[in-house]
Amino acid sequence: MAKLARLDDIVSLCKRRGFIYQSSEIYGGLASCYDYGPLGAELKRNVRNAWWKHVVQMREDVVGLDCSILMHPMVWKASGHADKFADLVTVCKKCGTRSRVDHLQDSKPSNAPVPAEPQQSQDLSGKVCPACGAVGQFGQPMAFKLMFETQMGANVDDTMTLFLRPETAQGIFANFRNVLDSTRIKVPFGIAQIGKSFRNEVTTKAFIFRTREFEQAELEFFCKPGTDESWFEHWKQQRFNWYLEYGIKKENLRFREHEKDELAHYAKACVDVEYKFPFGSGDWQELEGIANRTDYDLRQHQRGIRTMNDWYENKGDLTKIALRQESEDYLKGPLAYFDEETRERYVPYVIEPSAGIDRSTLAFLVDAYDEEQVNNEQRNLLRFHPALAPVKAGVFPLVKKDGMPEIAMNIYNDLKKYFTVFYDEKAAVGRRYRRQDEAGTPYCITVDGQSREDNTVTVRERDSMEQTRVHIDQVKTYLREKLDL
Ligand code: GAP
Repeated sequence: MAKLARLDDIVSLCKRRGFIYQSSEIYGGLASCYDYGPLGAELKRNVRNAWWKHVVQMREDVVGLDCSILMHPMVWKASGHADKFADLVTVCKKCGTRSRVDHLQDSKPSNAPVPAEPQQSQDLSGKVCPACGAVGQFGQPMAFKLMFETQMGANVDDTMTLFLRPETAQGIFANFRNVLDSTRIKVPFGIAQIGKSFRNEVTTKAFIFRTREFEQAELEFFCKPGTDESWFEHWKQQRFNWYLEYGIKKENLRFREHEKDELAHYAKACVDVEYKFPFGSGDWQELEGIANRTDYDLRQHQRGIRTMNDWYENKGDLTKIALRQESEDYLKGPLAYFDEETRERYVPYVIEPSAGIDRSTLAFLVDAYDEEQVNNEQRNLLRFHPALAPVKAGVFPLVKKDGMPEIAMNIYNDLKKYFTVFYDEKAAVGRRYRRQDEAGTPYCITVDGQSREDNTVTVRERDSMEQTRVHIDQVKTYLREKLDL
């Protein structure tokens, strides 16, 4: 049976083997910011690619987008983020720590399941300060804005306050018309994007689980109103199966429907895919949200476009401007859709599966982690799905003599054109295997004495540790088949 990973095991493995480091560590570190090291950068790139493959590459009805992080301030005014994207926080009167109201726990132990975020209760009399343990010592809850501000422009009179995007989704809505006009795609269809988002989170959490700079993988799937509920079901299943396909164990994955009072301001329905992370007592936590955003965003951006027309006349602070009412003929607006076949006009509904690349990476690390006893020694390994494994194969000469390094180097030089491979001739071969096990490398190819006689090598499989002799000419094909790449 696989060993259950503790978060400490994962953090220490990540540092030791170069998956993830604390950001700016040489200066004491920057809280809640992390850097991906050599193995981590490969792993994260593979997670992105696996998402893109399933959400974009393998679908005829989804196209990709890569838009800028900085966007016009009206984007955030229209989307509602400028006014509503805030957490309700409270300050502990004893120690001064600021906490999210929906994250506070009750002082009395309860058998009720711990609610996932967010929850709206404002009665704080029985709540405990997570920093000092004081009970019910909280100030008046207040809104804390989550978007980071920055300034654009070099001159005082043309400097503009902008926000770092808190979600990638709005870049997709802002480009909806561009994509329609520059491709032949028709509703129902989706636009997908992977990129950095930024939120000045009140509380960060558990390594890369909740950070202030993170990467999202989001799909906005546009469909005809009335068909939205079946597309919602479709994407729920697609996304759940994606995690299973890439190796997450079924018992660690579940859906959680949002209650009506925890829905975001734009959503008609939302379900989270949750993973059983090893924090606290084994918490079920959101991995990805799948929301029915209705026609809210496109209609809001039509209001934003009307408001801009006013602004050109009066100017002023764009972030403080009031959004104009929706036009009565909004179905003729620039972001409405005209279906040529049915001659119908409507504003599409949107189904949004929104995943976190860092959060998924953490889940894949946790789920792959294992320890086992082999010949009275502990073997640490990461049982990554081959597509996610940072290195696909290690290539070793058994010893550093008798022509073995030359043969191994030739194999390495050939394979590196197709896969991420690693050449290693240092230390005993057993130690080299263990190092690759700990990096999650699915195969190791070893050149030995027999290789010079019959042109074969051993290929060792990470999980079973079984070795198979393969002809050197066949190694590439063998790996391709086994890795399914
Ligand atoms: N566009 C919808 C949206 O942004 P969200 O539930 O706020 O929805 C979607 O975020 C996903 O992005 C989350 O399920 C999580 O995986 C990831 N995410 C959100 N905030 C994060 C943070 N502070 N750190 C790491 N990942 C985060």
